[in-house]
Amino acid sequence: MNLHKFPRRGYVKSPTPIEFLPRLSQILQVDVFVKRDDLLEGCLGGNKTRKLDFSIAKALSQGADAIVTCGAIQSNHCRLTLAWSIRENLDCHLILEERVKDTYDPRASGNNFIFNLLGAASIKIVPGGADVQSEMEALSNDLLSKGKKPFVIPGGAADPIGALGYAACAQEITAQLLESDYGLTHLVCASGSGGTQAGLLAGFAASNTPLKVIGVNVRRPTKKAQEDLIKTLTADTLKLLDCPHPLDPKLVLCLEKYLGPGYSLPSPQTLEAVRLLAKTEAILVDPVYTGKALAGLMDLARTGYFKKGERVLFLHTGGFPALFAYLDQFPDLIGPAFKG
Ligand SMILES: Cc1ncc(COP(=O)(O)O)c(C=O)c1O
Repeated sequence: MNLHKFPRRGYVKSPTPIEFLPRLSQILQVDVFVKRDDLLEGCLGGNKTRKLDFSIAKALSQGADAIVTCGAIQSNHCRLTLAWSIRENLDCHLILEERVKDTYDPRASGNNFIFNLLGAASIKIVPGGADVQSEMEALSNDLLSKGKKPFVIPGGAADPIGALGYAACAQEITAQLLESDYGLTHLVCASGSGGTQAGLLAGFAASNTPLKVIGVNVRRPTKKAQEDLIKTLTADTLKLLDCPHPLDPKLVLCLEKYLGPGYSLPSPQTLEAVRLLAKTEAILVDPVYTGKALAGLMDLARTGYFKKGERVLFLHTGGFPALFAYLDQFPDLIGPAFKG
């Protein structure tokens, strides 16, 4: 796999650590390791830094002076796109989709506050189900008419260019596995716009790494819808990489069971996962993405999906800043009733 032919900005300066989680492992009776992509650079880390390393490099190679992108109202992708745009001296325009009706609160904490603090060039809130692609094109045309040179990054940077970030991560993990004998058999990650899982699958296929990737649906309600998306994006990424290894469709596995009530809505299992990782390992996950992926991993461990001796890698894709917009989900931890 030759990633060198693609421009990159160098946002990922060194491999993120793989750490053993002793206390969580003891509780689950399965050895669990975590890949700390929550520690990536950018403003408060997360998976989009790897994707934007390639996406923003492409924008700059085309002479862009503004970035247009979209996401949900607490989007980590928008936070990181804004942060890296600021560091590159690019204007950043955000289209934010209120995917759950009446949940947009201009005074909300979490990523919403960070959008304001960092200062997006513009923010437009659109209702759930709006045609965000057309919104971004219209905005881009408007900027063009004003003499700007906008570049549109799709939601989640979920195109083959963005997915290269996770093909590179697969390469990084492969090298880490060669250096230290972790004995890992499975990787569990959140699967939303798809670039993370697709990039990993492409990267592992290209480097013949036999790590089984399990995606936990965080947006689409059905396994099939998510698996179809991942198959297409993985195939397109392998094509971009000129990779002769075709994707074995049997390797694409997405689980719908841990989505809970829907996108951005946590289930009791999601909240248990957020609490358990905090209490046992002092690592924060969020109720929208990584809490659901961890809840999936915990359930798979408890129900015997992972066999004795199998070792699991949890890909921590970040997202914890959104936790602070969900304090109402933890009523016992705030206010006078708090007991410690
Ligand atoms: C923290 C976090 N984890 C995981 C994901 C899912 O990654 P992907 O969109 O590449 O499927 C997202 C997407 O926004 C995210 O913000």
